[in-house]
Amino acid sequence: MTLTNPPAQQMFPTRGNVIAVVNLKGGSTKTNVAVHLATLLMERGEPVHLIDADPNANAAQWVEGAGLQDRIGVTRVDNLTMKAAVETARRYGYVIIDTPGNQDSMAFRGVTYADRIVIPMAPTPQEVDLLNATLDIVQDICGDTKPWWVLLTKATKYPSETKRLARLLMGAGTPLIEAQIPDLKRYAFAFQELPELSEDDPYRRVLEQVQSGVRFFDGYARQYAAILLEDALALTDPDERAAALHAAAQAAVDDAQRAAAQRHLNALHAPTE
Ligand SMILES: Nc1ncnc2c1ncn2[C@@H]1O[C@H](COP(=O)(O)OP(=O)(O)OP(=O)(O)O)[C@@H](O)[C@H]1O
Ligand SMILES: [Mg+2]
Repeated sequence: MTLTNPPAQQMFPTRGNVIAVVNLKGGSTKTNVAVHLATLLMERGEPVHLIDADPNANAAQWVEGAGLQDRIGVTRVDNLTMKAAVETARRYGYVIIDTPGNQDSMAFRGVTYADRIVIPMAPTPQEVDLLNATLDIVQDICGDTKPWWVLLTKATKYPSETKRLARLLMGAGTPLIEAQIPDLKRYAFAFQELPELSEDDPYRRVLEQVQSGVRFFDGYARQYAAILLEDALALTDPDERAAALHAAAQAAVDDAQRAAAQRHLNALHAPTE
């Protein structure tokens, strides 16, 4: 993966060892992300601790069910005990905080005590609808002091919606994880098992970007402009298409992208025989 070097204002003062996985929408793949990231760190031989802030304790059950509790430390916490648990755990190594959906107070604490935040989501209407509630908390707390990203998951299940959501987020300047997590049975059925993580598993790239602290990957703006052009070409109404092509030309990052949009604009205005 090629990532841009962070510009000065994106150098984050905090160390990046504590990662919170947050989304107020239930069932948005938080626990899946948390356990896969913890497993990757474990496989690398890093000391890693999972803080399970969900009363349902899915993450703790997963690690214990898989018999991994000697290799991934697990602590269940509530609102009163999270801070101390994170402070203790971070002295020993990496910490992943799995937070529950629907509990603002836990999401708030997870974001407060972490150095980095991952917001996983599938592009379903409910998740999109609820995203702002999570983003409000994350933006409020993080400001420019901590990096955070949205991670698109179950991407292959809803490819066109995933692309539309990526466009929406990029258009709003939201930092994204470059890798997307596909919808796969091996992820869905990994609960209480040791996750299978092949050499090219996308979760590896997720961890790489989170650890790098780089918010906008190389090609972010280019990818956005390409999506705009593709969407414009899907429009049949000439006025709508022209407006969308102008937007794509404006978002273009180089002459080649601008020329491509311009070519389609010219074709639109060319006199028909
Ligand atoms: N990449 C994936 N592909 C297929 N299924 C997945 C994937 N990630 C998660 N799942 C499945 O989606 C469901 C929700 O995932 P998960 O439990 O991780 O969400 P959550 O955000 O932790 O939910 P909650 O808010 O209830 O804690 C689970 O059944 C899980 O197995
Ligand atoms: Mg969960």
